[in-house]
Amino acid sequence: MTDKLNILAFESSCDETSVAVLENGKVLSNIILSQEYHLKFGGVVPEIASREHLRRIAELTDEALGKAGKKISDINLVAATSEPGLIGAILIGLNFAKSLAATLNVPFVNVNHIQAHLYSAFLNEKKPEFPFIGLIVSGGHTLIVLVEDFFRHRILGTTVDDAAGEAFDKVAKMMGLGYPGGPAIDKRAKEGDINFHKFPISRLKDSKYNFSFSGIKTSVLYFLRNNNFEQTKSEKLINDICASFQHAVIKTLFDKVILAAKEFGVKDITVSGGVSANSYLKETFLSLNEKGYNVYIPDFIYSTDNAGMIGITAYYKYISAVDGYYTSDSLAVHAKPRLDFENF
Ligand code: KG4
Ligand code: ZN
Repeated sequence: MTDKLNILAFESSCDETSVAVLENGKVLSNIILSQEYHLKFGGVVPEIASREHLRRIAELTDEALGKAGKKISDINLVAATSEPGLIGAILIGLNFAKSLAATLNVPFVNVNHIQAHLYSAFLNEKKPEFPFIGLIVSGGHTLIVLVEDFFRHRILGTTVDDAAGEAFDKVAKMMGLGYPGGPAIDKRAKEGDINFHKFPISRLKDSKYNFSFSGIKTSVLYFLRNNNFEQTKSEKLINDICASFQHAVIKTLFDKVILAAKEFGVKDITVSGGVSANSYLKETFLSLNEKGYNVYIPDFIYSTDNAGMIGITAYYKYISAVDGYYTSDSLAVHAKPRLDFENF
């Protein structure tokens, strides 16, 4: 047996089928297949996602191993997303991975997808130091977490309705910009005016760290209706709406993260998840590096769903013996798929 920890990791919780190989916590390959079948439906169709995962997962595994220069027999740990996500989609990756672990007689590590977004920041050369504030912004979740150590998280706030990415997707859809909406809004906002219109973000009385993004979506909807958008739309109008909307969302995320960093006296901040690919978000948060903070945002390829982040999370779970059951020669194939994130 090799003294290297070679991890084969799988992500299949939504519409990306992804397989990665890591050696001692370093990504050697990270193959991501974004399923295009969903585009014509304007959103992800769960049954199609499951079938596509099943159709492609074996060949992508071969590709990931080949690209990493590893044989299947070199693998000594298998990991997969076990929660949260589309249940059918998760089951494909999870069962494929567990079967592989059983066949190879190596340990299996189940990974929470949201934790994986959080720990994707550890794929950077320079790693965050504990304690840090983690902002996770994806299509399904928006969380501010105080991370005291590996897998010691305190959720400070979360969205009470739509996730940040979901708001981008819905607003883009209203303007006919396609799915997913985040990249389209990002691109158009670069040409637009952030001061064109003030789209309000709801303030929540019960928690200073919780978010609500459903109000801003409705306010964009009313703006489009009141201004007869379909008749008056122009490139400039769309760009300006994108810039103003994006500014409002990113500013809210930014203000709450700063509030948390100050309250807990934390200097290290991570921002991860699909929305962290946003160029305005990056510019806004990275400006904190000049103000005494250390901001970590994963590379673009690790922002949206990918198996590299599953692998790095499994790596830290394994080496820190989270749950205490991972030993190099015992098989731990007991992960059950879940829809919630109670285990966060
Ligand atoms: O993390 P992710 O790939 O999947 C989930 O776990 O949900 O995030 C997908 C979300 C989508 O809502 C997409 O619109 C958003 O990330 N996104 C962006 C950008 N790229 C992807 N949002 C804003 N700007 C972007 N450049
Ligand atoms: Zn995700």
